[in-house]
Amino acid sequence: MRSIWTNARLVTMASGAPYGLVEDGALVVGDGEILWVGEREALPATFARGAEIHDAGGRCITPGLVDCHTHLVYAGDRSREFEQRLRGASYGDIARRGGGILATVQATRAASDEALAAAADTRVRALQRDGVTTLEVKSGYGLDRETELRMLRIARALPARHPLRVRTTYLGLHALDPRWPNADAYVDFVCEDVLPAVVAERLADAVDAFCESIAFSPEQCARFFQRSQALGLPVKVHADQLLPSGGTALAARFGALSADHLEHVREEDLAALAGAGTVAVLLPGAHYFLRETHRPPVGRLRELGVPIALATDCNPGTSPLVSPLLAMNLACTLFGLSPEEALRGFTANAARALGLDDMIGTLAAGRKADFVIWDAEHPRQLAATIGINPGAIVVFDGRVT
Ligand code: NIG
Ligand code: FE
Repeated sequence: MRSIWTNARLVTMASGAPYGLVEDGALVVGDGEILWVGEREALPATFARGAEIHDAGGRCITPGLVDCHTHLVYAGDRSREFEQRLRGASYGDIARRGGGILATVQATRAASDEALAAAADTRVRALQRDGVTTLEVKSGYGLDRETELRMLRIARALPARHPLRVRTTYLGLHALDPRWPNADAYVDFVCEDVLPAVVAERLADAVDAFCESIAFSPEQCARFFQRSQALGLPVKVHADQLLPSGGTALAARFGALSADHLEHVREEDLAALAGAGTVAVLLPGAHYFLRETHRPPVGRLRELGVPIALATDCNPGTSPLVSPLLAMNLACTLFGLSPEEALRGFTANAARALGLDDMIGTLAAGRKADFVIWDAEHPRQLAATIGINPGAIVVFDGRVT
């Protein structure tokens, strides 16, 4: 059955006019796909025959939002660390004392599949209320083989319960499991034992590593990436978040889908990033929650033409955030993005950071019919509030959810 959304302000995010705006537009949907997008007046009559008509009442329709960096399968609570950091401890101090990621690892290993899935469901529902139709989920709170695989299976199972596309990422190098004598031995284990199991069960669409002085060196990450690419998995990198650590250069060297965080990226690595076509994923929730003072170099990224995406980075330690709308606002206030760049960061550029730009992220014929009807007159309103959702009807795969 074809349906037509008409009398809509179409925020296509295709290039051309700002926001790819079509003022008085119509959108034709059939079989879960967008069949036609354009001015209402130009709608071919053949589409209208027998179609179900929805009047958007002049409201904005945007592509479904894409949250391209989350860690939302986890158990446990890290609010005590928040207190410690408010009293002056740094994220690095807490991690070196065995807190941080390792605290979540313990809680996640101890949690049942059902408990992990239920906690993830709550976070997913919150993201959907904010218009998310595609979600990336990383592992990385298991560190052992069994729990890493469990996390990925739980993430892969989310679409059975929620109208949502999910992409999973094996975050093989997140923290060093203290049961291993050193990081190199752990990298061997990840490459020789866990990664082949992830690939054999087709549990991941990409891999990721935390390239940082408190985590893994560029050489260790490179070893993992070589192995992953040889097995057909593209690369993403947690790069230059806390200190300049070479993660961005590494992302460029491996032609990564994305380099994420980038607060401490070195100037000389930015041109390489641009040359590689890698997306810069900025994570304003983590920046805000860690009270980071270095900003990612947004001006240079613009000059060099590096596509900028945004994500919630939903995780218990550095970004307990499940609102893309709030993340957009933070990206404008803290990083100086325009509201248009912020929306592009959660649509077209986020799709690219997942390698899905020919499928989602813009309103165009041939793309999946994932979109949101917002109770908003202009798309800039989405980034211009703090914690207010104007109201959203979410359409996934052509169906109202
Ligand atoms: O993206 N930087 C590493 N990973 C997460 C934080 C994980 C945690 O503290 O639990 C991040 O910020
Ligand atoms: Fe992260």
